[in-house]
Amino acid sequence: PVSVYQDQHIASKKVAQRIANLIKIKQENGETAVLGLATGATPVEVYAELVRLHREEGLSFKNVVTFNLDEYYPMAPTSKQSYVTFMYENLFDHIDIKKENIHIPDGTLDKEDIAEYCIGYENRIGELGGLDLQILGIGRTGHIGFNEPGSAPNSGTRLVTLDDLTRRDASRDFGGKENVPTKAITMGIGTIFKAKEIILMAWNTKKASIIKKAVEGETSGEVPATYLQLSENTEFVLDKDAASELT
Ligand code: F6R
Repeated sequence: PVSVYQDQHIASKKVAQRIANLIKIKQENGETAVLGLATGATPVEVYAELVRLHREEGLSFKNVVTFNLDEYYPMAPTSKQSYVTFMYENLFDHIDIKKENIHIPDGTLDKEDIAEYCIGYENRIGELGGLDLQILGIGRTGHIGFNEPGSAPNSGTRLVTLDDLTRRDASRDFGGKENVPTKAITMGIGTIFKAKEIILMAWNTKKASIIKKAVEGETSGEVPATYLQLSENTEFVLDKDAASELT
C-alpha cells in the first residue's frame, strides 16, 4: 500500500507512532522489539519524534534491539560522516536503549573478515526472531540500504560498491565526491525482505521520479526498490511531493 501525507512532518510522526506502538505491545508481552533502522535525511524527523516520545511521554527503549541497514566502508565510527555518529546524534544518545542492543555494520574490519562478519550480522537478526519492522529511505538510483542496481533479490548482508550517483549525492557531507568511500557494508534485499513489516519513506520532489519507478515500474534489479512490490507487508509512506508523479 501507498500512504500519502500532506507533508513530511505529519508522515514522520505517523511512522514514529507506529514504531512506538510496536515497542509498547512488545513491552506488554515481555518481548523484545527488533527494529531495522536507516540513516540519511529521510528518517531524521522520525527519530526526533521518538526522542520526544521518550522525553515527554515516557516511551522506553529498554526492550528494543536495533540493526542498522548499512555503513560506509572503510569508515571509522568516530568520523563525523559515519552512520554510527549519525545514529548516536539523532537517536541513541537521547534514549534509554542499551548499548549492547545496538548493531551497526562495522566499517573498520579487515577486508578478509567482512564475509564472516556479515554472516554473523544475519545470524544475530535470526536469533532474535527476525526484524519486526524495517524502516527504509530510497536513493535516486532506486537503492534500498545500499543495494544498488544489479542487486539480487535474495542478497544478504555484504560488501558492495556504491553507484556513482549515490556518491555524488553524498558528496556534500564529505566535502567532495572524491572523499566519499567507494564501498559500503549493507544488509541485502533478502535481509530486508524477511522483516515482518517494511516502511519505505520518501519526501520531496527530487524523489518523485524514483518513487514512480519503485511503485509503478516493472520489477527489476535495475531499480532494487521495485522488489518491494512483491512484498505484502511493505507500505510506502510519502509526502505529496514525492507522490506527485504517481498515476
Ligand atoms: C541509509 C540508506 C540509504 C538512504 C537513501 C536515501 O541508511 O540505507 O538507502 O535511505 O540513500 O537517503 P536520504 O534519506 O538522505 O535521501
